[in-house]
Amino acid sequence: MSDDMRIVVTKDGPYMVYGSPPLFLGAVRIDGLGRSLEWKKGERLYPDEIYALCRCGKSKNKPFCDGSHVNGFDGAETAPRDGYEGRANIEKGTGGMDLLQDPALCTGSGFCHAQHSISKTVQKEKTVHIAKQQCADCAGGSLTLRIDGKLVEEDLPKEILVTATPRKEGPIRVTGGIPIESEDGKAYEVRNRVALCRCGRSGNMPFCNGRHLKA
Ligand code: SF4
Ligand code: FES
Repeated sequence: MSDDMRIVVTKDGPYMVYGSPPLFLGAVRIDGLGRSLEWKKGERLYPDEIYALCRCGKSKNKPFCDGSHVNGFDGAETAPRDGYEGRANIEKGTGGMDLLQDPALCTGSGFCHAQHSISKTVQKEKTVHIAKQQCADCAGGSLTLRIDGKLVEEDLPKEILVTATPRKEGPIRVTGGIPIESEDGKAYEVRNRVALCRCGRSGNMPFCNGRHLKA
């Protein structure tokens, strides 16, 4: 693991990963009613120091790229380059708390309405700790709390989790502020959690917008 970890989006191709951030397979752990409980880390993978993760969804060697994207993949980046805080919708909570949400970053991981509705947990002082956890779990950083004007970012490890359930492949959850660089060499805003598309169909490339959940 090195200090120059970064992920570079390549033109109509894979994500190139540098600096050896720990790479895991993982999934959301759910309860008997199908409600999201927590992120569960599975097998750790040990690829080469520099490696390519598939983002077109067609590789036969997932999560790694096998070159299948050359058969036709339009991976044009469409995500906004401005800051999250400026474009997020704001919902007022209790005690100086705001709930920020950018719907374009929602991957559908379901923590915001699992056992508690986040709209309710931000309304009571005694459930603020639950709201903080819901935001930290929110896969792509769609939800974030702001308290007294300051964004609350939980301390998350620098790592990559390639997510999937038995029936669906999910996005690549990147935590800990690993920088994401566009194919044009410019960096996206650094955040402590982002979710990168790996089905090749997001309408907010390179970030997941939940499109993999739709047929
Ligand atoms: S990604 Fe975030 S906003 Fe979307 S369902 Fe999951 S917790 Fe809710
Ligand atoms: S990006 Fe190369 S096979 Fe998917």
